[in-house]
Amino acid sequence: MAVSASDMTPQALAALLSFYADSGVEDLCEDAAIDRFEQSAALAQSRTQGKPQRELTGAPASSGQQGQRSSAPAVRPGATVAAQPMTPAPQASQLTIPGEAAFEDARALAASATTIAELRAALDGFTGCNLRHSAKTLVFADGNPDADVMFIGEAPGREEDIQGAPFVGRAGQLLDRMLSAIGLSRDTAYITNMIPWRPPGNRTPAPHEIELCRPFIERHVALAAPKIVVMLGNVASKSLLGTDKGILSLRGTWMEYLAGEARIPALPTLHPAYLLRNPAQKRLVWADLLSLQERIEQLKAG
Ligand code: URA
Repeated sequence: MAVSASDMTPQALAALLSFYADSGVEDLCEDAAIDRFEQSAALAQSRTQGKPQRELTGAPASSGQQGQRSSAPAVRPGATVAAQPMTPAPQASQLTIPGEAAFEDARALAASATTIAELRAALDGFTGCNLRHSAKTLVFADGNPDADVMFIGEAPGREEDIQGAPFVGRAGQLLDRMLSAIGLSRDTAYITNMIPWRPPGNRTPAPHEIELCRPFIERHVALAAPKIVVMLGNVASKSLLGTDKGILSLRGTWMEYLAGEARIPALPTLHPAYLLRNPAQKRLVWADLLSLQERIEQLKAG
């Protein structure tokens, strides 16, 4: 028999919630369970039949969630971006499995942005990625968009989701210390993520989520036009550099990131969250940071 909150005493409810919190449950999404296996099977079927976005329930695929775009303020150089409410997510009855239409929509929206502020507004209006429905905020970027160096992480965590800014939790504090060790700060670096919405429970973003968000991060790099890109961790390094190699073999080797016509020097390195779990690996990142510092000096000299 299903138990509803209204059947429970406040004490029992508090004890249950505290049990959930202790067990690591951080997101309560829906009243009814969602059969993800059925969704995946339906998606696979729609792909093989070449059909556009398949509807689970509710409105037709072209019901145009993009109509909800809002104009968001520009990111100010050096400013910490405050959390901003997102455009409301669709109701559960309007949720769709991402199909080719969502990927096309992401590409068109990203391409239509001619400034970083427009890109933020475009992302805010993009409803094709399931992650935005469980996230509290859009975590867009922090730091100085005119900086020479752009750092790209994986996806926001709990603290970032609350504050609406990337790298503000424990990993972010370590990133700040890493920046400061080579004379950088959020005034002289630009910081963002591959994925702008927190995956529930901080799970690794799924491949389709990375692909849905790829046009936005690619456009973000093109618009910010940094002189150096630093990829933090496996997800950003592998997906932006288009390689299957793991971060431990990629890190520390200078590569090129292709942003349209531009070839931007790119340095993959370990993610600060990984360093929190594996502090002995900080020596590897220290070598990468020194290499980065040397490149920055060369840029200034030259
Ligand atoms: N980890 C990330 O990759 N990005 C953040 O913003 C925070 C933690």
